[in-house]
Formats: sequence, structure tokens, C-alpha cells
Amino acid sequence: MTPSSLLPLPSSLRDQFNRPLGSLRLSVTDRCNLRCGYCMPEEHYVWLPRESLLTFEELGRLAAIFIALGAAKVRLTGGEPLLRHGLPTLVKMLATTPGLGDLALTTNALLLAAQAERLREAGLRRVTISLDTLHPERMQAFARSGRHADVLLGIDAAGAAGFSGTKLNSVIIRGFNDDEVLGLLEFGRQRGLTLRYIEYMDVGGATRWRMEDVVTRAELLATIEKRHGRAEPVPDPANPAAPAEVFRLRDGTTFGIIASVTAPFCGSCDRSRVTADGTWFSCLYAERGVDLREPLRLGATDRELADLIAAAWQGRDDRGAERRLALPGRGALYQLDGLRADPRREMHTRGG
Ligand code: GTP
Ligand code: 5AD
Ligand code: SF4
Repeated sequence: MTPSSLLPLPSSLRDQFNRPLGSLRLSVTDRCNLRCGYCMPEEHYVWLPRESLLTFEELGRLAAIFIALGAAKVRLTGGEPLLRHGLPTLVKMLATTPGLGDLALTTNALLLAAQAERLREAGLRRVTISLDTLHPERMQAFARSGRHADVLLGIDAAGAAGFSGTKLNSVIIRGFNDDEVLGLLEFGRQRGLTLRYIEYMDVGGATRWRMEDVVTRAELLATIEKRHGRAEPVPDPANPAAPAEVFRLRDGTTFGIIASVTAPFCGSCDRSRVTADGTWFSCLYAERGVDLREPLRLGATDRELADLIAAAWQGRDDRGAERRLALPGRGALYQLDGLRADPRREMHTRGG
């Protein structure tokens, strides 16, 4: 799809802190086939109404507008994006959008073995896989699923399908998997996959979050350096907005740390996210989003939608994680009633 009505492209859309619109996270479903304790710990959820979910045509049109405005990196998220029926069709639409620089997917890999090849053929360029434990019984207890073997098959299938640059994301939580820091690193090393440790965040959905349970960047580095010696920071000037700090060990192994809690990176954040029902959030922690579905369905032109997005981006002054860091006595962002009142506050609706 070419939003030809938008050409020539605006050259430098900047927000209030001079941050460009660089990366778009498109959630394609709020459903998930896991119940990770840091994201979906409850028994019951309020789901987005089915008729409110954007169609592939609507998602493709919005993506093309965002890309024309500068968001060259697109990442498909969920919930679990592989639950969205026919996802390769959407990937194919997005992959041919003029101006697209990168097209990636964040998945828990339960369904990846069955879909990796089709996604790659459709034009998906990269996958990032969540893997929090190497112990099936821990996954059962923590994410309420006995399908650990499927995750491992999914990881192998990504390589077999020809994906390179695959990353593994591990959220490390005290008392759950903090004894797996070295094991997960070794798992990634043996497969040539970059492991990224993520600090447990107090995002919507994480109703049981406590600062004491966050395994910090400093602790992670201490554990790794005790075993492997100095972890050398690897600067990435070409990628100033990347959330992960990359380190290299003496044997050449690289890994990343995403320290959203203790060392937030709001200052360089170029990310925004669209929920599966077309609500656009300019921050993971934002209270409110911009409804793009209504104008889309009421017949707005590409230009009108682009103007709406551009104006909102120019007014953007979010720095959610930094504000959270400054709070004394920090606890969970929302309790259950707050999430039930607006399911778009959930991390699984906003896209991880
Ligand atoms: P690449 O580096 O391009 O592969 O993408 P990415 O790191 O942005 O994507 P991924 O989905 O792997 O994100 C990794 C994790 O970083 C997420 O699961 C979140 O925990 C965290 N994260 C992503 N976006 C944000 C954000 O806007 N703010 C904060 N604080 N954390 C984020
Ligand atoms: N803290 C950190 N990361 C989270 N994710 C979801 N909830 C949290 C949280 N509370 C991220 C994880 C997961 C991805 C889908 O979303 O990285 O792998
Ligand atoms: Fe876990 Fe992701 Fe599903 Fe949340 S959306 S429960 S983080 S797999």
C-alpha cells in the first residue's frame, strides 16, 4: 500500500523532547496462550470486543501512514501475535510497504514451529522470542502452561526457517528464575542467539509487582561478571533508541540488558504502540491513547490521519519510566479494578 497522498514525506517529525517517531509496535490481538505472572496473573480478563479489532486492511493502512511519517521499524506484538488467524497475510502486506526498514515479531513461540516458514516467506525479517525459564515445571507454575517443549521447537524452527538475528527475551524475577541468569545465557550462546535480560516492570497487568522482586541491571552484571569476567559495554551509535544495552564477554558472547526500571531510557524513546482495536499509545505507561479506529472507520483520508498522528507526536512529552523511577514507595501501576475499567491499560493489550 502506498499512501501516495502523503508524499512528499515530512522529513523530521519530533516530539517535545526532540525524539523522532521511529518505531511502531502493532498489536494484532489482546489474546494470549500463556499467563505469565508478570503480565497476566489473573484468572479472568476483559477482552477487546471482536468487532473493534482492526482488520488487516486497516492495520496495513495505518502502518503505511506511520511509516510515511518516519516509523521505519515495525514490530508485531500481542498478546501473542501468532494467535491472530492468517498473520502471514498481514506480514505480506506490510513487507511491501514503501519506506519500511525493518519488520519484526515478538512471540512466546508456542505456535512458531508451525508458522516460522510461512512468516519468513511472507517477508518477516526478524523474531524475538520470550524465554524466561529452562525448566518446564517452572513454566507450568509461572505461566500456567505445560508447553515448554513447543517453545524450544519454536526457537529451533526460527533458525531452520532462515531467520537470523533472533533474540531471546528473559524477564528475571527474584524467587522465580533469578538462579537461571547464567543458564539462560549459556542456552543462547550455544544456539548463537542474543539473550536479553529484562528488568521486571511495573506496567499495567503486573498487579503483583514489588520493587524487591526486580533483579536489577547491577545484580545481573555482578552475577555474570563473577562467572565470566568483565562484560564490556558495546556501544551502538547507529541505534540510539534501542532499549537494550549490549555487553560482550571475553569469549565473544554478547548479551543485552533492558533496564527499564533502574535505568530508564525514555530520553531516546522513539517507540509508540497501536492496540489491536486501534488505540495509539505514545508510552508504555500512558494513561490515555488516541483513538485511530473511529476516524479510520468514519472515512478519514490518509492525510487527515497523518495530520492527527503528527500533531499528537509533536505534543508528546511522555517519560513514563523516568517518572515511575522518581516515585517514592513505588508499587504496582494498577490494581485489578483499574485494569478492568480499561483493558487497554494491560501490557498484553498494549503489546510487550
Ligand atoms: P529490537 O531491539 O529492535 O529487537 O526491538 P525491541 O527491543 O524494541 O523489542 P522487544 O519486543 O524485544 O522489546 C523488548 C522489551 O523491552 C519489551 O518486552 C519491554 O519489556 C521493553 N520495552 C519495549 N518497549 C518499551 C518502551 O517503550 N518502554 C519501556 N520502558 N520498555 C520497553
Ligand atoms: N516486565 C517486563 N517485561 C514484560 N513484558 C510483559 N510484561 C512485562 C513486565 N511486567 C514483556 C516481556 C515479554 C514481552 C512479550 O513483554 O519481555 O517477553
Ligand atoms: Fe506472557 Fe506475552 Fe502472553 Fe503476556 S502477552 S502472558 S508476556 S506471553
